[in-house]
Amino acid sequence: MSESDSAALAIDVHALPRHVAIIMDGNGRWARQRGLPRIEGHRKGAESVREVVRAARAIGIPVLTLFAFSEQNWDRPRDEVDALMELLYRYVLDEREEILGNDIRLAAVGELERLPLLVREALGVLMKLSSARQSMVLCLALSYGGREDLARATRSIAERVRQGTLQPEQIDEALVGSYLATAGLPPVDLLIRTSGEMRLSNFLLWELAYAELLFTSTMWPDFRKPDLLAAVAEFQSRERRYGRTSAQLRPPAADAGGS
Ligand code: FPP
Repeated sequence: MSESDSAALAIDVHALPRHVAIIMDGNGRWARQRGLPRIEGHRKGAESVREVVRAARAIGIPVLTLFAFSEQNWDRPRDEVDALMELLYRYVLDEREEILGNDIRLAAVGELERLPLLVREALGVLMKLSSARQSMVLCLALSYGGREDLARATRSIAERVRQGTLQPEQIDEALVGSYLATAGLPPVDLLIRTSGEMRLSNFLLWELAYAELLFTSTMWPDFRKPDLLAAVAEFQSRERRYGRTSAQLRPPAADAGGS
């Protein structure tokens, strides 16, 4: 039995996380450990993206969000930013059949207007083509920052209050959520960050409120299907209490009389 098969056996397909989000970290270190330029780490990381998307679809995860480029990543050296944009462009072109053929809807969150025109157009085309697909949502976070998104949502809400179309007392969690870039997606159930770093790095700050956090030392270019399956199995072993006690979560065993 292969490693992936054994990991698959440990998964309960009826208790899958509705939304898995991944901070794909460690591409640079993976390359440095091998004496390669950083871009080689990103290239190999793009292969992990392909494999993990396929695996997530195969096991039935409804939503997968990948942190592909942060708002802060624009400050990286120009050649690295260009190489990442090129990889993204290639990914969107090359995976078109894979995405459409597997009934996947492509979505994107972040300041997409900052992306190069070519990338934006390619993304827009595939997002439109796949807009009615229903088996999985693949959401790419691009030029994304959680605080920036919250600030943008707050501005929009404030504008409606100023116009008089919304009263302050109508502002609740559901309303705030509906103004975020991720509106319509379920909250994140499982966050995975690779490479041993234990930070959120401004990713989906609101959406992660009750997520299970899983940090692995595996570098993103080495993170493949068995790692995703192992992460889901770990998620399923956790007790999610949402502020309650363990006893409250477990219904008392029915007594012998059955009353
Ligand atoms: C973090 O590793 C990774 C990124 C900033 C980019 C992620 C991009 C990819 C996985 C490839 C392209 C994406 C798609 C969707 C095709 P790092 O560079 O910060 O690594 P380090 O911390 O080891 O330096």
